[in-house]
Amino acid sequence: MRLSHHPTFYHLKPPDHPYRTQRAGMAPGLTSETSLQTAAVKTVMAKPTSILHRTPWQPAIAASGQGIYVTLEDGTRVIDAVGGAAVACIGNGHPVVKQAIKDQVDNLSYVYNFQLSNDPAEKLAEFLVKTGNNAFELCTFVSGGSEAMEAVIKLAKQYFVETNEPKRTNYIARQLSFHGNTLATLSLAYHPTRRAVYLDLLNTTNFHHVSPAYAKRFQKSDETEEQYVERLRQELEDKFIELGPDTVIGFVAETVVGATTGVVSAPKGYFKAMKSVCDKYGALFILDEVMSGMGRMGTLHAWESHGDGIAPDLQAVAKGLGGGYASIGAVLMSKRVAEGIRDTAGFMKHGHTYQAHPLACAASLAVQKVIVDEKLLENVNVRGEYLGSLLRERLQSPNALAAPFTFDVRGGGAWWGVEFDFDGPEGKRVDFKGGQFAMIVQARAFEKGLIIMGFTGGSNLEGTKGNHIMLSPAYNVTKEEVEKIVDILVDSVEEVLKNSFVV
Ligand SMILES: Cc1ncc(COP(=O)(O)O)c(C=O)c1O
Repeated sequence: MRLSHHPTFYHLKPPDHPYRTQRAGMAPGLTSETSLQTAAVKTVMAKPTSILHRTPWQPAIAASGQGIYVTLEDGTRVIDAVGGAAVACIGNGHPVVKQAIKDQVDNLSYVYNFQLSNDPAEKLAEFLVKTGNNAFELCTFVSGGSEAMEAVIKLAKQYFVETNEPKRTNYIARQLSFHGNTLATLSLAYHPTRRAVYLDLLNTTNFHHVSPAYAKRFQKSDETEEQYVERLRQELEDKFIELGPDTVIGFVAETVVGATTGVVSAPKGYFKAMKSVCDKYGALFILDEVMSGMGRMGTLHAWESHGDGIAPDLQAVAKGLGGGYASIGAVLMSKRVAEGIRDTAGFMKHGHTYQAHPLACAASLAVQKVIVDEKLLENVNVRGEYLGSLLRERLQSPNALAAPFTFDVRGGGAWWGVEFDFDGPEGKRVDFKGGQFAMIVQARAFEKGLIIMGFTGGSNLEGTKGNHIMLSPAYNVTKEEVEKIVDILVDSVEEVLKNSFVV
């Protein structure tokens, strides 16, 4: 594939100009001014579009998809090794889901949930409550992850209003986190580059932050894991005390941190410790499993395997819920929250027009049925283990070209992150000419037929350092596909390195 003809490198065409420069190698949605300024610039063929795209380049157009393969408009077939953004958990074109959507369109396409409920929404809610390991009693549906976290913020507040604790107005989340792109969720989370443009609009009165739980970067060299957890627990308790413990609504965390730092699990005992602080002061313990949940980590909920088995009071799920067949997210409520609202107001005072959309719920129900019927969580664990071991072997074994620069390979289930580091003495051996390694690898992998996600800024609190890539293939990925993904990824990494060696 010639670079200039490759759809990745088409760029927005100004009306009077057929050609334009494009900045290669940026991550969708994670661009920062600095990286934009420093990225490599290539002159390429433009293609008209009326969409204001969210990438500095004009993305290629996908024409069709089947399983983990996506065929582009020009006929190129690529492997989507990241399921969009950890969304397409059973790939494209599953016949069971297609049929369920068709049946639902024939039957009922839309009702407004302020007037009427609908059968697929009721069934999906029942499924989520029944499969929740006794953690949940009620749920509500929205249209995606940001909406789910927005609903979490509002439901948590409603809970304390209904239960006569209106003084509670503060949320504590973590640095290097992401909870969505609305203003409230950007305020709640702390993703430096995604917040940058909107800083003046963010709420710093009600939303507060404590340290991330990221041992490989932030655990001190003279600290045991237990001591590190205790330090983080103490920091949370100190923050409660600083704000006034009876003013705190809840502590909010991604069970496994996604895009910001790249599939980072908390140390053992961390969630138990954080929950103990919430319990001590009567606040809610809230988990964002928009990316990590619904099977991605090999258990239906990530907290079952990666959160000390500690169930939250409120939980958001989204991506793997609908698997990309429809826009859907959900908030799952524990008995405590359910009773607090149901037994007082009796209803949720928050909502949107497309909440509990019948088509989205029918699609989602079918996706969940496929995951159960095809025993896909078993596959997630087996293939995930294999994917992790191949990544370690090919990137970290002593004779691997990338070993000196591979800071960490981590993850679980069908979700893996690789963090690279060029800050040490080895980093002097390479020069990316102002580009960012993860982004250049992402672009190179795409040219070779593989979609991955590259990110920057996850290795320090300011969001100015770090390169990581993320893999989150469909739960039904095969052994051969795993091997192909790793082959192309490692080839891309090695090619970029070889082209960048200066010594
Ligand atoms: C942990 C987490 N929360 C919330 C969101 C926002 O979800 P959405 O993009 O569907 O609005 C994301 C998206 O990546 C996420 O990873």
